[in-house]
Amino acid sequence: MASSGPSGLRIKSPDLLVAESGVDRAGNGLQRSMGLFQLVCFGIGAIVGTGIFVGLSDTVAEAGPAVIVSFVLAALTCVFTAFSFAELGGAIPVSGSSYSYAYATLGERTAFLVGWCLLLEYGVSVSAVAVGWGQYLNELLGSLIGWELPAALARPPGDGGIVNAPAVVVILLAALLLVRGIRESARATAAMAVLKLAILALFCVIGFSAFQDGNLSPFAPESVAGITSGASVAFFSYIGFDAITTAGEEVRNPRRNIPIAIMICIGVVTVLYCLVAVAAIGALSSDQVADQPAALSLIVNRVTDSTLGGGVIAFGAVVAIASVVLAVMYGQTRILMSMSRDGLIPRIFERISPRTATPVANTWIVAGVFAIPAAVVPLDVVMNLTTIGTLAIMAVVNVSVLVLRRTRPGLPRRFRVPLFPLSPVLGIGFCGYLIYGTGPATWLQFVGFLVVGSLVYALYGRRHSRLGAAPREPVGSEAPDPTLTSDPTAPDPALTFGSRGA
Ligand code: ALA
Repeated sequence: MASSGPSGLRIKSPDLLVAESGVDRAGNGLQRSMGLFQLVCFGIGAIVGTGIFVGLSDTVAEAGPAVIVSFVLAALTCVFTAFSFAELGGAIPVSGSSYSYAYATLGERTAFLVGWCLLLEYGVSVSAVAVGWGQYLNELLGSLIGWELPAALARPPGDGGIVNAPAVVVILLAALLLVRGIRESARATAAMAVLKLAILALFCVIGFSAFQDGNLSPFAPESVAGITSGASVAFFSYIGFDAITTAGEEVRNPRRNIPIAIMICIGVVTVLYCLVAVAAIGALSSDQVADQPAALSLIVNRVTDSTLGGGVIAFGAVVAIASVVLAVMYGQTRILMSMSRDGLIPRIFERISPRTATPVANTWIVAGVFAIPAAVVPLDVVMNLTTIGTLAIMAVVNVSVLVLRRTRPGLPRRFRVPLFPLSPVLGIGFCGYLIYGTGPATWLQFVGFLVVGSLVYALYGRRHSRLGAAPREPVGSEAPDPTLTSDPTAPDPALTFGSRGA
């Protein structure tokens, strides 16, 4: 059900979002094949990757040993926002994530801009993560066979190379897996998630075996400013937990499993990152860790006085980061499906192949487009853009919780944010603080990106919107919605689609 105000604010009701989900216009649906364990592995697969394996040394360069505080600040931002994602994911269990939530609460224009920013959080992130993968692949080749790809084929222009070939290759491989279907992709992701947790645990054991208290002082050489910019860099390593909500249409019992999976993922990675950071700084001074490529391998090599341990860590990083590419690309394709269903982008993105039950054309377009920045843009630029875009979206998600509580107080919610409204308000505050920490160059690039997005909406999205073409009701209408699921005993329309599709 749509509503429209005098200013043209188009809002899509949560019930309509759920009722519309699950099938494309030709009647082909996604399969509900993911349970809680697969969902948690999928979340870990989306989260743990380039940020901790590659970005840790950048965070240390900003904050020194106070990198631990930076990680905690980034984690707090995620915790408050994760509560909001959990509430919305349980209330509106459809593919599309924050984009759908914004559509249901703040209207089509904001939803489009959220979808536009998701191109940073997911699409550009695929590029960034793939570049990190290429670095560790080279490290692994070095320890295995003593040979590395030449810089011309392993680095972008401006960083001593011509093209980052490994980054392109991993993106194309991920697309190949994804078009073969979620069941196989989820299994592969689960195996990789378990492996990467084991590799990081191994790193912690080795790091703590060489722990020296003296490495933690001076604790904050760059004072509060360093901690703040460090928190913004550290935040990249938390990005991805919300990808869980993009799988809303492929999850069994989504109203229960999505909130629980988000909480488990955020808890596990927060503890893990803090342990890895303390182990790294404790084993080697922060000056030796700062700005080092493949820093985790370097630390292990120094502590064990051999290259074997570093090679094992490099292998784990290659596996871990590949799983992030897979999960994040999956999220991007599902978000584009949602936007396409709404008419805001061309229909090719919503088409589901009857043979594989996956959006094949969509997946290959995403792979082709985001392989380009992966090939030719430096890592810090794509990482910073991913970070600021994600923080902006998360601020909107926190706002959406505040709005949906007011506009739809009776909507069934499996999970409710604690301490409402304090939690989403703190989430907004932390997002603003980390956006501040990204610095003026990134702010300017982001503003330019938003201006382009606004133009695309005005010239294409607004005119082709299906909601805009549908009959509307005035804002604040109390008319009953025939697709309402507020009766807790009524069957969940999303699950009905699931049983049909299964
Ligand atoms: N959090 C993801 C990573 O660190 C984006 O690779």
